[in-house]
Amino acid sequence: AEDGYDLWMRYRPLAKEAATALDRDAESVEMRGQSATLRVAADELRRGLAGLTGHAFAMGPSPHPILLATSADGDVGRLGLPLKDLGDEGYIVRQVRLGGRDVTLVTARTDRGVLYGSFALLRHIQTGGRLDRVALASTPRVKLRVLNHWDNLDGVVERGYAGQSLWDWWTLPDFKDPRYTDYARANASIGINGTVLNNVNAKPDSLSASYIAKAAALADVFRPYGIKVYLSARFSAPIELGKLKTADPLDPQVAAWWKAKSDEIYRAIPDFGGFLVKANSEGQPGPRDYHRSHAEGANMLAAAVAPHGGIVMWRAFVYADTDPDDRAKQAYTEFKPLDGKFAANVIVQVKNGAIDFQPREPFHPLFGAMPRTPLMLEFQITKEYLGFATHLAYLGPLFAETLGSETFAGSKRATVAQIVEGGVNRHALTGMAGVANIGRDRDWAGSTFNQANWFAFGRMAWDPTIGAQPVAREWAAMTFGPNPAIVAPVTDMMMGSREAVVDYMTPLGLAHVMATGHHYGPGPWVADLKRPEWNPVYYHRADKAGIGFDRTRTGSNAVAQYAPELARRLADPATTPERDLLWFHHVSWDRPMASGRSVWAEMVHDYDRGVGYVADMRQRWDGLRGQVDAERWTKTATYLGIQEREARWWRDASLAYWMSVNGRSLPAGAAAPA
Ligand code: GCU
Repeated sequence: AEDGYDLWMRYRPLAKEAATALDRDAESVEMRGQSATLRVAADELRRGLAGLTGHAFAMGPSPHPILLATSADGDVGRLGLPLKDLGDEGYIVRQVRLGGRDVTLVTARTDRGVLYGSFALLRHIQTGGRLDRVALASTPRVKLRVLNHWDNLDGVVERGYAGQSLWDWWTLPDFKDPRYTDYARANASIGINGTVLNNVNAKPDSLSASYIAKAAALADVFRPYGIKVYLSARFSAPIELGKLKTADPLDPQVAAWWKAKSDEIYRAIPDFGGFLVKANSEGQPGPRDYHRSHAEGANMLAAAVAPHGGIVMWRAFVYADTDPDDRAKQAYTEFKPLDGKFAANVIVQVKNGAIDFQPREPFHPLFGAMPRTPLMLEFQITKEYLGFATHLAYLGPLFAETLGSETFAGSKRATVAQIVEGGVNRHALTGMAGVANIGRDRDWAGSTFNQANWFAFGRMAWDPTIGAQPVAREWAAMTFGPNPAIVAPVTDMMMGSREAVVDYMTPLGLAHVMATGHHYGPGPWVADLKRPEWNPVYYHRADKAGIGFDRTRTGSNAVAQYAPELARRLADPATTPERDLLWFHHVSWDRPMASGRSVWAEMVHDYDRGVGYVADMRQRWDGLRGQVDAERWTKTATYLGIQEREARWWRDASLAYWMSVNGRSLPAGAAAPA
């Protein structure tokens, strides 16, 4: 059934002409050397080619094979291909003449590179490419490409909208659900090479002996696919598991406990990646509980895993209700002074924006501000603030927007992508993390289009400059078949979909106006939560005269956290991008926008445009009825119906509230609330 289980690895039969060409150019899959990774690469190619051509593919030599071989192979070595720059994970795929035969060579310096090359070749064919004269080559620009699962040990996924956790802790380590292998295939196919199994709000139990054994079983499944396992660590585990009196990072007993715990993990998982830590944030324990810095906490853990080659990913998502300062400033205030103080195997993980995965946020001011510290960029793939699984919002443009932002840091005006790729100091440790949207639903991600966000995260972590549209096109072709009559409209729908969500939820730089707790649906009126910085009114600050959060000198002065040139621009509403206006400024409802409309009229216009875009997507999807299989078509059509209804709900509820505050009526020509 077309239930979405196959993701973008569908391998359905090609059109006749393409299948005939493929048959002519590839007759078998041949493998030089032996390893688990080469074997899964060959298996994937055989599975893919069999699906695409409709007949089985033999293993072994033939006049025109697809040949998998590393550069250690003598014949390949003699070809003089530019293998030097490929690193440990890059690949080359080329038609070459080898030993008197025309072969499609998939090569790399390592088996993992060959695996990535095999998936690249399949992607090439799935998106309509031919084998004759194929010439692909790519090397990842980011070293750690990691999913963060916010999966609890009881099976509930925090902010998960695709069912229970994939990990069945109950039957692990004995039963290795075949689905774990499919998960690994999907990740390898887009270059993801690490996975943090458990929630950042971590339970100490995840580091107990029995859970280490379960994690080791998963690591065994993932290893051939080049995927390392990591664990979220609870900072107070030495107390809860180790029965120590303290978790003070400078206490020798605490350091010894972590060292012994790390040794224990590495005995079970020799290639364990390391720890991810959320400390002193939203109630989590951390080094600040002992008046130690985040660096002191991170470095103590880093020392425990360093002998094994492990790393620590230390999150900068830190804010406290005891701090009266603008929440958007707190991470920078805490971490910027620690630049250069972290151990070599620590990477600081920073969310894309300074608040929390909103439909739109300006890039986090820490990017560019800590040149002596490797920074890992964290995106949220699961759409906590963008309509969960039901709303269609392709996040490629969101990812690309952050990555492409100019930080104005340093003389070279680095973009966020350049900093993520190592920055001016060319850090060897680089990384991108994505909070996974994966669960036990048949379609993995809660909807067909949510799969695209998992896909886009992997593709953009591999190459942050690839661009949102090429990725959407690839995904659409692989997911629905390479027919331009489907790929073009689907790509089109996707490309504007995130902006539509911004329009109907948080136009002009508004943020955090969602309903309490679950964050689904509007709640700009909420003002009674205990923690002031959780109240929407804290963020929009609307009153009779105006709306927006003044983050200039007359307000919280958060703009001063950006590089001077950018700070200067953002200090003035006239030189602030309109899309971020209310993020940085409190302005009059009457302030004129570039369009000539007032702020109020512009907001109304944006809400309407968002609703209109969703109505438009529905129509375009209706036009594809019969061209997409009934099962996936119907579910998507139904979800688009929900989205349209809820886009109206967002618009109408928000406008009603703003009108109750500003006492205005709707500008002429605005669509009347239903
Ligand atoms: C958000 C989210 C939480 C999560 C937190 C984090 O605030 O709502 O569920 O724990 O981010 O990233 O740690």
